[in-house]
Amino acid sequence: MIVNINGRDLLASPEETLLQVARRNGIPIPTLCEHAGLEPWGGCRLCVVEMTRGGTGPVRVVPSCLQPVEDGLRVETHTPRILRIRAVLLDLLLARTPDARRIQELALEHGVKRTSFVPRRDPDKCILCNICVRACAAVGADALGTAGRGAAGRISLPFGDDASACVGCGACALSCPTGAIEMTDRGSERRIWGRTFQRLPCPSCGAPTLTREHAAHLAGRSGLPAESFGACERCRREQASRLFLDLVGK
Ligand code: SF4
Ligand code: FES
Repeated sequence: MIVNINGRDLLASPEETLLQVARRNGIPIPTLCEHAGLEPWGGCRLCVVEMTRGGTGPVRVVPSCLQPVEDGLRVETHTPRILRIRAVLLDLLLARTPDARRIQELALEHGVKRTSFVPRRDPDKCILCNICVRACAAVGADALGTAGRGAAGRISLPFGDDASACVGCGACALSCPTGAIEMTDRGSERRIWGRTFQRLPCPSCGAPTLTREHAAHLAGRSGLPAESFGACERCRREQASRLFLDLVGK
C-alpha cells in the first residue's frame, strides 16, 4: 500500500505504523515512550502528526506510533500546529524534569529554553514514559508498576518498596531515556532498587556478567541450565565468530 508523508508517496506494509514508515524513510519524528522491541504505548504524545484519509475529510491529530498505515493516508509531520503541540508537551515535561538532559535537548530543538509552567518542587528525572515497566514485563520479572495518577504518578515497586521480584537484569535502567533509575555496577556487585546483587563471572574471561538471579530467571523460562547464560557479550561474540569460521572451514 501507499501512504503519503510530507508530500512523498511511500510504500508501506499493512502491519507497519506511521512512525515505522516515516523512520524507515528517514523522516524524523520525535518520540519519548517508544522503544525498539516493546509494544507501542502512546503515552508521551510527542510523535503526533496530522493525518487525512485520501486527502479529504477532517484533518486528525494522531500519535504516529499507534496509527496503523492505511492505503491513501496523507500525513504531515511538521506543520505549525504539530510543532506547537510538541512545544507545549516539552514545556510541561521541562517543568516536571528540569534536570533530564534528553528533555532539555528536545525542548531546545522545539524553541523552549525554559519552562513557562511552575516547576515541580520535588523534580526528578522520570517522565512517566512507562518504558521501564514494559521492559521489566518483557523480561518476565514484572517487578515494576506505577503508583498515583497524573502529574503525581511515579514508577514504583509493589507496596512501595518490595523489590523481591527484581532479578537485577538492569533492563529498566538501561532503557530509561532520561537516566531516572539509579543502577551502579562495582566489580561483581550491582545495586538497583535498593537491592544488592552478585554478578556471575564469565566462564571464559572472568568479567562480571549477569546477576545470579537473572541467570536463574532465564533458566526457569527457557528450561536451559543457568550456566548457558554465563558468557559475557564479548566472549559470546568471539565464540559465535569462531563457530562461523569453523562452519565455513577457515
Ligand atoms: S523511570 Fe525512566 S523509563 Fe521508567 S517511566 Fe520514568 S523516565 Fe520512563
Ligand atoms: S512515541 Fe508515540 S506517544 Fe510516545
